[in-house]
Order: sequence, then structure tokens, then C-alpha cells
Amino acid sequence: MTAHSPIRHNPAAIFPDTARTTFAAAYPDQPAKLTHALVGHDLLCLDALAVLAERMPASSVEYNLGKLPLGVRPEDTPANGLTLGETIRTIDTNGSWAVLKNVERDPAYAALLDAALADLDPIVRASTGPMLHREAFIFLSSPGSITPFHMDPEHNILLQIMGTKVMTVFPAHDEALVPAQKSEEFHGGGHRNLVWQDGFASHGTAFPLVPGDAIHVPVKAPHFVHNGPAVSVSLSVTWRSQRSVAEGELHSFNALLRRRGLPVGTISVAPERQGVRRLAYRIMRKLDV
Ligand SMILES: [Fe+2]
Repeated sequence: MTAHSPIRHNPAAIFPDTARTTFAAAYPDQPAKLTHALVGHDLLCLDALAVLAERMPASSVEYNLGKLPLGVRPEDTPANGLTLGETIRTIDTNGSWAVLKNVERDPAYAALLDAALADLDPIVRASTGPMLHREAFIFLSSPGSITPFHMDPEHNILLQIMGTKVMTVFPAHDEALVPAQKSEEFHGGGHRNLVWQDGFASHGTAFPLVPGDAIHVPVKAPHFVHNGPAVSVSLSVTWRSQRSVAEGELHSFNALLRRRGLPVGTISVAPERQGVRRLAYRIMRKLDV
């Protein structure tokens, strides 16, 4: 490590030196498997998560039966008949899943997010500028559950805490996987789930994750997840950047042009530098043309 390296040795780091070196080489466009030091952390055991979930606002917690048919409508999703705390404490047997959203609103979990992202901040800052809109999510899922093919708008690192899963990640920005119009709808509030075709399988890379592993998932890199044979707990730490915000604006601009029958523009690999188009979008949106 040189004096100018963004990777400084820190024995108390959540992401050790090797993980930060790997992350620095991959960020922002490539998926990468990392390691972390949060396995067994007091805030991430099932009892602590049950207590957290019960003090969180109901709007920040989703929990449901695990084995639902594919394609269920959100309003038809059944509750599982258990309280939230019971659902989490017995998740290894009740076939459910739960997502605790924006756990950084709780001070203890905010400190955990800060500590995790502090390790990565110099690397991110050097590549895509300051971390914006930092959020943390906790996913709990029963043995064998599946998260279908989808994409997310954030820079994301998922830390496996308990149990195993295999995340299969596909390249971002491949219009064969995600057509431009789907991206435009997504940035306009459309659903994150994507249409799967069997021919896509060979484009994905499977990353098996055990406790202590983490994975960097680039912005909008499509992925699906197969849970292993035990209950799984994962912590997701996310942020946005000038680049991810710019990409969203440019897709929204294209949606606006497409609706008017105008030619859409190309979105470069560095959308944060496409200032003229972003300005045009903001002006058109302000004028409501
Ligand atoms: Fe995801």
C-alpha cells in the first residue's frame, strides 16, 4: 500500500484489507466477492432483529409467507398469522421472509452502517464521488426461498450473516437482459422485477455466499437469489452516487422523449459527465413540456 492508496490497514475494519483491495478493483461496474467481520455481531442475531423489527414503523417492515406462487399480486399477498417478532424468532421453521428497511433510522444500526461504509468511503469517493443517500436493509429468509430476477437502483454490498445463499449476478447495461424501455419505466417508479428468459442463464455468474462472505452488486446489475438449506440473514449496505443519480435522470429523460415520439439518447458509461442532456431534462421537467 502506498501513502496515496485509499486502502489503509485497519485491524478493526468490517471489510478487511483484502476485501477492500478486491472492492477497489471492481467498483463501480463489476460484481465481486468480498469478506466481512460482522458474523456473530450482537445487533444481527435473530433475537436482536426481532426486537428491532417490533420497534420499527410498520411501513418499514415487510413479512410474508415464504412459499408463494410466482406472479402473486402485492395486494393478494397473505400474512402468515404470526406477530412480527414471532415470525423472526421462528423463521427457520415458518416458511416466511422478512425485510427490515432503512434500519439506519435506528441509532445503533446507523452506527453499524456508518462503520461499514467508512471502510469503503475513500475507494468510492475516488471513483464516483461522495456516497449519497446511504441506507441499510436486513433480509431474513427461510430455507430454500428464492428472490426472483430483478435489479436495484443503488450501489449495494450484501453481507451474509447467517445461513447460505447463492446470488447469480448478470452484467449491468446489457439491453438484451434489460431493454431500454424497462430501464426507463424502472426509473419512473416501475417494478424492479425483470422478465426472465432461459437463454439468459449463461450470462450470469453464480456467487455462493457463506457467513463472512459479502458481494458487491453494481447499480442495476440484474440478479436472483437462491437461499440455502438453513435460515438466512443478510445485511445490505447501499448508497447512491452522482453517477447513479445521473443514470436515472438520463433514463427518465429518454422516457420523456420516447413519449413524445422524439429520438432517445445514448447513455454513456460515465453518465455523470452528460451534463447537457441532464440539464435539458431538468429544464423540460420544470417546464412540464
Ligand atoms: Fe436485489
